[in-house]
Amino acid sequence: MRAIAISIIAGLVSLIGPGALAADANNGAELARRWCAACHLITHNRLPMPLAASPFGSIAKRPGFNARQLSQALQAPHPRMPERGLSRDEAADIAAYIATLK
Ligand code: HEC
Repeated sequence: MRAIAISIIAGLVSLIGPGALAADANNGAELARRWCAACHLITHNRLPMPLAASPFGSIAKRPGFNARQLSQALQAPHPRMPERGLSRDEAADIAAYIATLK
């Protein structure tokens, strides 16, 4: 019985993918809309836009992109970002969302 439960859980985890249980990409998308969309292109939309900030889709496609590193970087506000820093969970969720744009 226990072995069955464990294999079901393992199956679910492998289905969702590593890290997905900790971070919530849907919440990250919501946060990105609220906090980042003013300056960043936050979806796959490829329309050329005259913005200084990198589109999230192109950040995700860079070689060596790593959601964990990004989420750490996001906890430090970058120069022109709003004063409000992101919490660890918010940063992780946004990084998980950006990872879905690969
Ligand atoms: C007021 C405008 C503004 C907002 C809002 C903003 N950013 Fe930025 N962001 C920038 C600019 C400008 C740059 C590029 C220059 C720099 O790094 O300071 C940048 C750079 C970045 C980079 C590095 C990009 C690269 O090319 O490596 C990341 C990652 C990033 N922003 C994430 C976010 C996230 C996540 C949010 C929302 C929580 C956000 N930004 C909100 C203006 C903004």
